[in-house]
Formats: sequence, structure tokens, C-alpha cells
Amino acid sequence: MSLAIFENLRYEKKDQVALITISRPKLLNALNAPTMQELNRALQAVRDDDDVRVAILTGEGEKAFVAGADINEFTSLGAGAAEALSLRGQAVFSLVENCGKPVIAAVNGFALGGGCELALACTFRIASENARFGQPETKLGIIPGYGGSQRLPRLIGKGRALQIILTGDMIKADEALRIGLVNEVVAFAELLPRAEALARKIIANGPLSTRYCLNAVNQGSDMTLAEGLAHEAALFGLCFSTADKNEGTSAFLEKRAPKFKGV
Ligand code: COA
Repeated sequence: MSLAIFENLRYEKKDQVALITISRPKLLNALNAPTMQELNRALQAVRDDDDVRVAILTGEGEKAFVAGADINEFTSLGAGAAEALSLRGQAVFSLVENCGKPVIAAVNGFALGGGCELALACTFRIASENARFGQPETKLGIIPGYGGSQRLPRLIGKGRALQIILTGDMIKADEALRIGLVNEVVAFAELLPRAEALARKIIANGPLSTRYCLNAVNQGSDMTLAEGLAHEAALFGLCFSTADKNEGTSAFLEKRAPKFKGV
């Protein structure tokens, strides 16, 4: 297991899985500016390290995934600086979404405001039974600023998203599962093992397939159906220029496990 140096998060790499743990437990892992910069660096490492195939994102401790942006930083912000903060945060979370590798959110407690938005930017979400989700910004007289007003309705539908955003109510893990905000709910002790098991399943498949699937779904979500289908066809064609496609299909026909090389 290798370890890179950060102050507000831990970045650990084990057998092609990067585990990123946001770690400011005294403030429930709230995202201040240095933490956002470190998260950006950690995601760049995930993107650029060929030896990382999947990342898992979680929070330190048993209480919080991330309890939002650090409200201490909001007190002295003017309108222009707040817009800039929002744009910077959105850029970091867009890197989570588009780093070219799956990023699994392992939501271990409160995922509120920026924490919920961070989970939303991940490829998919699993949660422990004690997880709580919410966008409480309206209670502070502001609105979600790290993508929540856009990603939440795209994931769970406009009506449900607006109920969560406008009331500021927290929802429990079982409700998050029911409305499709998370894919699975497991006991707290099972959260990281389950996230790693899912990562291992993904890693067993073709690396280029993973990359192209993420690209097809992420880029296609912003396209018309006709454009998205054309994009899918182009990526499907690209697969047929790869050695991995030959290996995957040959291995199936020869009834053996494939050995993908990512080329
Ligand atoms: N920013 C800054 N500090 C935060 C924080 C945030 N988003 N969320 C929690 N904290 C701090 C608390 O101020 C407290 O600090 P203190 O020990 O110095 O008093 C510490 O973390 C522990 O939180 P506390 O409120 O005492 O825990 P709790 O169990 O009573 O409540 C929450 C937990 C998550 C319900 C509550 O902390 C909360 O509502 N947090 C803010 C959530 C939010 O509005 N996020 C969106 C921000 S845009």
C-alpha cells in the first residue's frame, strides 16, 4: 500500500484501487479551500496514474462523509468571490465525474450540501445504514453551489430533487436507496469491503471498455439521443481497433479468463 502526503485527506493505493478519505473529523470533514485543492490533486493523481483503475471516495470516521462546504469560509465572502468559489468547486467535482476512471462514493455518514454534491459527482454511490443525505443550503439563505441543483434532478428527477433542496430536509439511507440516490445500502462495517469488491469487479474487465463506457454515458447525457447514439457507435468502433477486444472475445471462445492489457 502506498501513501501520498496530504493534510486534509488520505490517499492510499492498493492493487490498482485508490482510496481517498476526506479527513477533517472535528468539523465532520467539511470542505474548506485547502481540502478542495487537495481533492483536486488527488483526482489528478487518479486520472494520471495508469496503475490506478478505480477510486473509492469516503470520509473519516463513523459520523460524516462530508457535512458540506466549510461554513466558516462563507462569513466574509462577497458576491463575486462566492461565484468564483462555486466555479472552482464545480471544476473539482467535474474532475471527479470526468477523471476517466470510476470513482465510487462510499457514503459513511452525513452527506450534506457539498458532501451530497460530491457523492452526486461520483460514478455511483453506496451507503452505510447510518448515512444521511441533504441539501440544507436554503437553511443558510443560499443555494447549492457545487452542482447539486443540476446533478440531483438529473439523477432522481426534478420533483424529488426540488423537495430535498427546498425543504433542506435530510433523508435516511433507506429513502436514498428507494429514490435511486444510492445503489446499495450496507452495514457500516461492510461499506469499504463492498466498495472494494465492486472496484475489483470493474478492474477484472477491459480498462479501455471502462473508459469508453464512462465517456459514452457522461458525454451522452448532455447530447440528444441521436447524437448520443452516434457517439456510442464511434466508441464501439474504436473498441474493434484494440488488442483488448481480440483478447476478450478470444478468451470467451477459448473458455478462459481474459488478460486485458489496456491497449
Ligand atoms: N462547516 C463548518 N463546520 C461544520 C460543518 C460545516 N459544513 N458541519 C459541521 N461543522 C462543525 C460544527 O460547527 C461543530 O463544530 P464545533 O465542535 O467547533 O462546535 C462540529 O462540526 C460538529 O458538528 P455538530 O453540529 O456539533 O454535530 P451534530 O451531530 O450536532 O450535527 C450536523 C451534525 C451535520 C447535522 C450539523 O453539524 C450540521 O447541520 N452541519 C452543517 C450542514 C450544512 O449546512 N452543510 C451545508 C453547508 S453549505
